[in-house]
Amino acid sequence: MKRIVTVQRHLIETQHLNPDATGKLTAMLWDLTIAFKIISRAVNQAGLINMRGEEGQINTSGDSVKKLDRYAEDVIYNGMNHGGHVCCMASEEEPQLITIPDQYQKGKYVLTYDPLDGSSNIDANVSVGTIFSIHHRLSESGNGTLADALQPGNRLVAAGYVVYGSSTMMVYSTGNGVHGFTLDPSVGEFLLSHESFQIPRKGKIYSVNEGHSSGWDEPTRRYVEYLKTPEAGPYSGRYIGSMVADVHRTLLYGGIFMHPRDYRRDEHFGQGKLRLLYEAAPMAFLVEQAGGIATTGDERVLDIMPTDLHQRVPLVLGSPADIETYQKFMLEARA
Ligand code: AHG
Ligand code: MN
Ligand code: MN
Repeated sequence: MKRIVTVQRHLIETQHLNPDATGKLTAMLWDLTIAFKIISRAVNQAGLINMRGEEGQINTSGDSVKKLDRYAEDVIYNGMNHGGHVCCMASEEEPQLITIPDQYQKGKYVLTYDPLDGSSNIDANVSVGTIFSIHHRLSESGNGTLADALQPGNRLVAAGYVVYGSSTMMVYSTGNGVHGFTLDPSVGEFLLSHESFQIPRKGKIYSVNEGHSSGWDEPTRRYVEYLKTPEAGPYSGRYIGSMVADVHRTLLYGGIFMHPRDYRRDEHFGQGKLRLLYEAAPMAFLVEQAGGIATTGDERVLDIMPTDLHQRVPLVLGSPADIETYQKFMLEARA
């Protein structure tokens, strides 16, 4: 029988790799895993307990419906605001910086998160996820500030995601490789199932919403056309539309996931859709930790200095060989 390792055991066993470890990060991640188990239970029961659909609707029993992404927000906020680990938080669901109530201790970390990613897929019973990232605070003490939250991915202390799929899995990194745990619902624990995994050097899958191709730049369009030619392929197209699930598959099977610049969003700069702080940066951190590359097409995602909590960036990530080919198309176009 294989060694049975919970997330907590794994965190404790790997803590010594970080010379400054005090056990506080381990305790914070422990609190997060509780929130993820509660969200996982709600995702599994969403169809039964009237959590699908739009917030504000009245369900058949006359109760008002709380959307699952709002519920997931409440679970993470209420799970993390009182433990003394964080000085502030930022979430996709909250326009402003989330402060910690006066009565609770302020900690040394900043938590940013997308409580429920892929929410357009919930009603169809397709995989959704949660993304989180953790930075050290910059300010000394008291309430955290906007500057504490606006830090680049290259300063991440930890990041991870949970994918609520055919099983619930948590994947995280504290900068020492990427590790995956599968929730055993009968014992209520995340158990180590994918230790220190690496992304394949090259894959055979491309993942992009081709419905947006008229907004892409020319090299991106040419690259995706190239993937369909006999000399490149055969590549298979796979696009779930929940980034967590698409990136999870990309990490395991290799290939390329893209949500590239879209000039229909911004005719001058071609913004992406995905949000830097709680979608692109944590995924870029995990992909790099697994031996892959994450770029906007022009620059390394982890080196972008955020200026806004909800700033969007183009995101192209995956197997190193696939991303290098994409970058060649981008460079040739500029030459
Ligand atoms: P969210 O549900 O958190 O708003 O995120 C949705 C995101 C992401 O999960 C996915 O990759 C992307 O939106 C899909 O966008 P398109 O509809 O443009 O393909
Ligand atoms: Mn999202
Ligand atoms: Mn979301």
